[in-house]
Amino acid sequence: MTRRTALITGASRGLGLALARLLARDGWQLVIDARDGDALAAGAAGLGDRVEAVAGDVADPRHRAGLARAVAAAGGLDLLVHNASTLGTVPLPPLADQPVDELADAFAVNVLAPLALTQAVLPALRACGGSVLAITSDAATEAYPGWGGYGMTKAALEQLSAVLAVEEPSLRVWWADPGEMNTAMLRAAGEDADSAPPPEHAAAALLRLVSERPPSGRHRVSDLAASQ
Ligand SMILES: NC(=O)c1ccc[n+]([C@@H]2O[C@H](COP(=O)([O-])OP(=O)(O)OC[C@H]3O[C@@H](n4cnc5c(N)ncnc54)[C@H](OP(=O)(O)O)[C@@H]3O)[C@@H](O)[C@H]2O)c1
Repeated sequence: MTRRTALITGASRGLGLALARLLARDGWQLVIDARDGDALAAGAAGLGDRVEAVAGDVADPRHRAGLARAVAAAGGLDLLVHNASTLGTVPLPPLADQPVDELADAFAVNVLAPLALTQAVLPALRACGGSVLAITSDAATEAYPGWGGYGMTKAALEQLSAVLAVEEPSLRVWWADPGEMNTAMLRAAGEDADSAPPPEHAAAALLRLVSERPPSGRHRVSDLAASQ
């Protein structure tokens, strides 16, 4: 059987690492990234020997070229997961106080980098009839005070995904709200992360999405988990 390959951004911890563990367990070959090379290597160490860990910032074009080279070396791409993300300005400010230059940086990581990375590996995805999974947020569709800047970036990522889905009908494109998870990101947002479920719960629901390959569209982990 041909080995399937996934590229997951932001897989040194949190949801990205939890999903990488499940895919590795199921025999997937992985390409993963994160900025902190030591943390990335530590995460990759538990993923077996079919993982290529490429440290770097998804907003950096040279790093994205390195990811595309790793995909080519792996022989193809069946799944691209846009998981790496930034909250942007913290503490989360009301829009009245949102520094616009910092919001531009958040758009670079959360929206423009996923678009550019998709472009870089699109030929490989098309050749495999592959899938794209963009991790978004309920902040993309709900109006929470303080979450406007981050929410705008996630809303843009959702629209990017929806248009990609109609422009690339040979692919599956899903955009998914994972719900609150007990991770560094939720903690950095000033929320009570300890009372949120671990990222492994969301990863298990997303693994079902990847395995069952429903038509392109938006999903919520809470719905996926409830339909199990
Ligand atoms: N946690 C929640 O409650 C929650 C809720 C809704 C949606 N989400 C979404 O779920 C996804 C995963 O979040 P998480 O909670 O698992 O976050 P996390 O624990 O903070 O992990 C984020 C991962 O992304 C990497 N990363 C961050 N910026 C990067 C960049 N510019 N380039 C490359 N890698 C980068 C981090 O490593 P480095 O820092 O070393 O780069 C880390 O591996 C995100 O898209 C987030 O927006 C989370």
